[in-house]
Amino acid sequence: MCGIVGAVAQRDVAEILVEGLKRLEYRGYDSAGVAIIGNDQKLQRARRLGKVQELADALKTDPLLGGTGIAHTRWATHGAPSEINAHPHVSSDNIAVVHNGIIENHQMLREKLQALGYIFTSETDTEVIAHLVHHELKTADTLLAAVQTTVKQLEGAYGTVVMDSNDNSRIVVARSGSPLVIGYGLGENFIASDMMALLPVTRKFAFLEEGDVAEVTRYEVNVFAANGEAVIREAKEHDVSQESGDKGEYRHYMLKETYEQPTAIRNTLEGRLVGGKLDNNAFGENADDIFKEIEHVQIIACGTSYHSGMVARYWLEAIAGVSCNIEIASEFRYRKSHVPKNALIVTISQSGETADTLAALRLAKDLGYRASLTICNVKGSSLVRESDLAFMTKAGVEIGVASTKAFTTQLVGLLMMTLAIGKHHGMTEKEQQDIAQSLMMLPNKLDEVLALADSIEELAEDFADKHHALFLGRGDQYPIAMEGALKLKEISYIHAEAYAAGELKHGPLALIDAEMPVIVVAPQNDLIEKLKSNVEEVRARGGLMYVFADTDAKFDSDETMTVINVPHCDDIIAPIVYTLPLQLLSYYVAIIKGTDVDQPRNLAKSVTVE
Ligand code: AGP
Repeated sequence: MCGIVGAVAQRDVAEILVEGLKRLEYRGYDSAGVAIIGNDQKLQRARRLGKVQELADALKTDPLLGGTGIAHTRWATHGAPSEINAHPHVSSDNIAVVHNGIIENHQMLREKLQALGYIFTSETDTEVIAHLVHHELKTADTLLAAVQTTVKQLEGAYGTVVMDSNDNSRIVVARSGSPLVIGYGLGENFIASDMMALLPVTRKFAFLEEGDVAEVTRYEVNVFAANGEAVIREAKEHDVSQESGDKGEYRHYMLKETYEQPTAIRNTLEGRLVGGKLDNNAFGENADDIFKEIEHVQIIACGTSYHSGMVARYWLEAIAGVSCNIEIASEFRYRKSHVPKNALIVTISQSGETADTLAALRLAKDLGYRASLTICNVKGSSLVRESDLAFMTKAGVEIGVASTKAFTTQLVGLLMMTLAIGKHHGMTEKEQQDIAQSLMMLPNKLDEVLALADSIEELAEDFADKHHALFLGRGDQYPIAMEGALKLKEISYIHAEAYAAGELKHGPLALIDAEMPVIVVAPQNDLIEKLKSNVEEVRARGGLMYVFADTDAKFDSDETMTVINVPHCDDIIAPIVYTLPLQLLSYYVAIIKGTDVDQPRNLAKSVTVE
């Protein structure tokens, strides 16, 4: 999704801005641009379709000098990816604007501005902001006042940064629905849509709140709430490692992040499982009071995070004794739902900024849920700030667009949540201890699974000429099959679907032939015999199967079936254990297909628009 970086400094900032954009590349984009106010008070701009490196190369040939500037990576929403549509957008040679999000009433504003004589040079919704600010500045005393009046006319979601080349001492930023963070330096200040962008220049950050407009100069940051009142947004030092963005010895971030899972899970468990027991404060001081009272859990998420929520539903109803619903955020937010008595709303999100999930949380608050909990990987993100309780997964920064370690640490958080709720709803001490024990063994188990990488890499070759694939699982492995299918389609562009294996005969069996590889997840559990019958249904129709099976489940390879033996594990952690072989399979298939593993086409890491 789009990225924003801005700076007000004494030194030249173009390189800092471009480095910031590079650090946001993982979010997905199609073009990049930068505008700098030159020492002669003239606006200089460079934009390129494609990678940030193209922009960096252009700046080597034609450097832009100056200490005040804004930069952007664009992910097309209104208007095709092109240089003309790339940000920053400019009005009358002095106003420059970058913007994340969507201005929903842009058409009406465009017509109004055209009637006033403004000429549009792009197809974007963003350009209306540039012209509106220019228009408002004719009557406003300051750029800040012009931006405040402008944002009142905007409908939709935005994080936007504006500068005026007639005054290089400041930039003005506004947030409504799209995150912005201010980075504090010494005699220089910065802004960005994600603090990752600013790690080379500062660790001190303040997050803007919804409706905030801020004026940023070299020495001061003045923030105003939507009602115009001056407000303080506390700046804090953050301990994010600058090195967390490096690929290290790995060819791709996705592979690195897949291998980081044992460590990420150890970090997520640390301090939460103490002496084989869940720590009372694992979900925050007030959590126990809430967990005691709730009778129902409503989970809301998107994509991979939705899949982790689906697994949690199996756990909560089977183990914790509370009913649970799960819904895709973009559906939940636009339907009328019934709120069961004493219900807890749980959002799950790697980024904490997913627009649909955030909107669903806000709706749930209005609907009267008892409390909200988020399972999230990004401290200080909107979901964390707006939820009553937050459980931080300690996955570390996840750069690959395809979520790996964020997913498995979410599952760990959700299993701990099951424990925390279940202990108030009839779970015995022994049941709690057994689950805690299984969780403690999980990181070592995952190390064993990662040792299967070579055989999975070999297996991937069979998929080189395939256009479709079917994933099957039963029970809490059904969402894992869904996650496996999502990974494969996301990064290898092979069409993949997942089915609960019992559903095969209700339609998808018609698809089975030798051209449709069928991937089966088969841990040793009480559904294994049922699953074996489903495998026979596929075999009888001439299907080719790839079965990830528990060593004890007694599957043997033959001419129609390739079996990869997965080390035996406790039933409860099997959804986490079986995720890894599917991640590795999709990774190696993508390598064979030659796709862009870390930044697959058309996708963004953090989806901050609807
Ligand atoms: C996962 O591989 C995807 N990139 C995507 O489905 C993602 O999980 C989804 O967009 C939700 O993101 P979030 O976890 O940051 O809310």
